[in-house]
Amino acid sequence: MKDLHFTRHRRLRQSANMRAIVRETHLHVEDFIYPLFIVEGQNIKQQVQSMPGVYQLSIDQLETEIEEIISLGIKSIILFGVPIEKDELGIGAYHNHGIVQEATRFIKKHFPDIIVVADTCLCEYTSHGHCGVVEKGGKVLNDPSLDLLAKTAVSQAEAGADIIAPSNMMDGFVAAIRAGLDEAGFEDVPIMSYAVKYASAFYGPFRDAADSTPQFGDRKTYQMDPANRLEAMREAESDVLEGADFLIVKPGMPYLDIVRDVKNNFNLPVVVYNVSGEYSLIKAAAQNGWIDEKGVVMEMLTSMKRAGADLIITYFAKDAARWLAE
Ligand code: PBG
Repeated sequence: MKDLHFTRHRRLRQSANMRAIVRETHLHVEDFIYPLFIVEGQNIKQQVQSMPGVYQLSIDQLETEIEEIISLGIKSIILFGVPIEKDELGIGAYHNHGIVQEATRFIKKHFPDIIVVADTCLCEYTSHGHCGVVEKGGKVLNDPSLDLLAKTAVSQAEAGADIIAPSNMMDGFVAAIRAGLDEAGFEDVPIMSYAVKYASAFYGPFRDAADSTPQFGDRKTYQMDPANRLEAMREAESDVLEGADFLIVKPGMPYLDIVRDVKNNFNLPVVVYNVSGEYSLIKAAAQNGWIDEKGVVMEMLTSMKRAGADLIITYFAKDAARWLAE
């Protein structure tokens, strides 16, 4: 044994404190953005069937909810609207009294400091469930959708949204929304762009929660092919040039290579969206007693930061905040 030369990696793992002082990645409660689904109506707190622990909430339920979020130390939320009425052009998305606009006004009035991120898309508001204007033959039109998206962003900013997060994947949405916001006097409202968004099967449970399943076809002509990596760089680059302030990569777990690529190639804050399907997989396994939920969730969130994410949009935000505080 005497002549053996090898490296003793285990020296730095020998105790909890030794591991703590060499740990490279840390999760903080400030890293989390918590998604909320706001429904029209009163006294509604309806659990999403495929997402245990996630609820559709009416505005009157928000005071208690936001108090809890703030008491856990979470600094930001992202709002999705679930309207009662839908139409071809998704009017509810850009109506001054739309559900997200009303919820934003309520939240900012009672809790001025919490950062409200408004998801800017049409699919929750259109009868066909697509993220843009649909032509007779079923084609999702790019340029006519841009005006509606800019209108949506401006109405969200007017209601008090702190950050606009466009998730629709039309070409030029950042340019159109930036111009619209600037023209309306909202040059200080940042854009958190869903720059790299894949056409993913992991969004299934979200579409139950937001009632936004496309009524025909799929989103493959606007969302990205999961097989592509270089295309993600082109998407991120154009959004940077058009004036994005944050870059989102979505989904999270299966796309951590892309998170790292975006982090290495651009100098904006990188946000990863730990999407609904990722949540449901873990919840289902945990409910069956097949995995240790806390262990799996904290490992997953840590991996996202290790991959390069600065912020994580996650349905686990409240749980993780509690676990961090323990
Ligand atoms: C709207 C939107 C979607 C998600 C966020 N914004 C769904 C979609 O593109 O179909 C998915 C989020 C999740 O799965 O948690 N375009």
